Amino acid sequence: MCGIVGAVAQRNVVPILLEGLRRLEYRGYDSAGLVIINGGLQRVRSIGRVASLTADCAAQQVHGHIGIAHTRWATHGAPTESNAHPHVSGGLAVVHNGIIENHEELRSRLKGAGFSFASETDTEVIAHLIELYYRQSKDLLDATRKAAAELEGAYAIGVVSEDSPNRLVCARKGSPLLIGLGIEENFIASDVSALLPVTQRVMYLEEGDVADIGLLSVNVFDAAGNKVDRSVHISELSADMAELGNYRHFMQKEIHEQPRALTDTLLIAVAQDHIQPEWFGFDAAEILGKVDAVTFLACGTSFHAAKVATYWLEEIAGIPAHAEVASEYRYRTSVPNPNALIVTISQSGETADTLAALNHAKSLGQDKTLTICNVPESALTRASRLKFLTRAGPEIGVASTKAFTTQLAGLFLLTLVLAKLRGRLTPAQEVEHLTALRSLPNKLQQVLALEPEVEAWSHRFANKNHALFLGRGVHYPIALEGALKLKEISYIHAEAYPAGELKHGPLALVDEDMPVITIAPNDQLIGKLKSNLQEVRARGGELYVIADGDVGIEESEFVHVIKLPGGHNGALSPILHTVPLQMLSYHAALQKGTDVDKPRNLAKSVTVE
Ligand code: M6R
Repeated sequence: MCGIVGAVAQRNVVPILLEGLRRLEYRGYDSAGLVIINGGLQRVRSIGRVASLTADCAAQQVHGHIGIAHTRWATHGAPTESNAHPHVSGGLAVVHNGIIENHEELRSRLKGAGFSFASETDTEVIAHLIELYYRQSKDLLDATRKAAAELEGAYAIGVVSEDSPNRLVCARKGSPLLIGLGIEENFIASDVSALLPVTQRVMYLEEGDVADIGLLSVNVFDAAGNKVDRSVHISELSADMAELGNYRHFMQKEIHEQPRALTDTLLIAVAQDHIQPEWFGFDAAEILGKVDAVTFLACGTSFHAAKVATYWLEEIAGIPAHAEVASEYRYRTSVPNPNALIVTISQSGETADTLAALNHAKSLGQDKTLTICNVPESALTRASRLKFLTRAGPEIGVASTKAFTTQLAGLFLLTLVLAKLRGRLTPAQEVEHLTALRSLPNKLQQVLALEPEVEAWSHRFANKNHALFLGRGVHYPIALEGALKLKEISYIHAEAYPAGELKHGPLALVDEDMPVITIAPNDQLIGKLKSNLQEVRARGGELYVIADGDVGIEESEFVHVIKLPGGHNGALSPILHTVPLQMLSYHAALQKGTDVDKPRNLAKSVTVE
């Protein structure tokens, strides 16, 4: 969703801001803008891509040593130039991520105080509120702090004023914001990837922090106004990690990065001879040893990872587990269990629904919390007692791919740890699982080699409007994930069902125009699945089967089969069966000509509820 970049330097900051915005494009946005202070405020805003903002800045020869920039994903007000950030009031300008819940009340108060509004946004109230206090104190930090104290909702804001041409003030609550530290130059951003070309030294602001940033100084104040030290982190990410390289799309690159991402994620485990709770934090043995149930809270693809884990946990660790859609959890009356492990799963670590669900779980007295997350120092990792970092590297494509398979890897490790703590693993089983994990990246590489076969299938999907995905058992959530991927990037309507449910309704949809994609591992349900497939064929449905090599389903005119190398892969099978579905949705989207990495209406990080 929205992105923020700001800079104060001795050099021209316009290229830094524009490159930062370009690096935030993946989050999803519909307009972009910047303000530079060069004598007075110089504002350029543009609907659409950062490239058009860049062209406008070049045409207007915008340059200066301090500025703030923003990509906006419309919430309050349409994606128009007048609604694009920065918003100005008097001589100051503001960029904002998040949502101000009391904006209507503030708007009428500010109108009463003589301010007029040029946009429909909630952000504009922040600009006027700061200006109101600035008129009194003539101090940008003081005015921002006072205004921030009146804001309800979530915000990360950056503020500049033409009266203070070497001063950048920022504040955050509920939305992430970090400070990038340079040499005689400093930066702010909502996401570290925006700053990687200029610095890897970052300081994450905490809830309620306000910071005053100059060329040579960074002063941070907590919500109570005390000057505080926030630790400096060196980002492990490098500027070229977020580059496309030889790939056509980030999604394609990220699908192919999965063997590497899994190797990195599993490194902590496969280098050992024994399963160890400490993979989840130094005090994990104590916390995990006390839990008697697991509740997962997650959204979208991360929710599907949670669903897979519920099967693993009940079967291998013998512990009750259930997965909740995070956006629903806090609005229903649930029965809290103080001994339950609350596991949030998130690629970004900043999904508002998941964060709110975690806070809700804690407010119900459930304090044994773990997050499985791809972003160190994200809101979710900081809000959880235990953490497991997936090492997928930056995921730029909106469709989650390598984040999903690495989440599954982390969840499988959690399953093994809980199984061991509960006395459910023999030493031989422990060795067997670790050996299987060691060979996973290679097996995944072999599955990736099936891409030409998957691509050939995709040609048949270009003119389809609907598709049905089937799976059974632990592969049902993989069918859900396949359907989500297809609809997300190819806009083909797709549904997923446990194959046994077909006859209870969805079979009515099956005819020759409905491709039925089926996951067919050679597990204990294969006989029943084959019967379900006969039900489809008997109604004229065309089958696309992704099968284990030894499953015994043969190709015929209306039955297309792609065989994974070798036989059944045991508990790790869902990870391997995911990859052909990712490739199918990618190639179907190419056939349809959609914007693969930035599908319409979607954002990478969903930071609003
Ligand atoms: O960053 P998160 O994992 O918390 O995001 C959750 C969902 O928004 C995300 O998985 C979404 O469903 C993806 N676009 C799916 O590809």
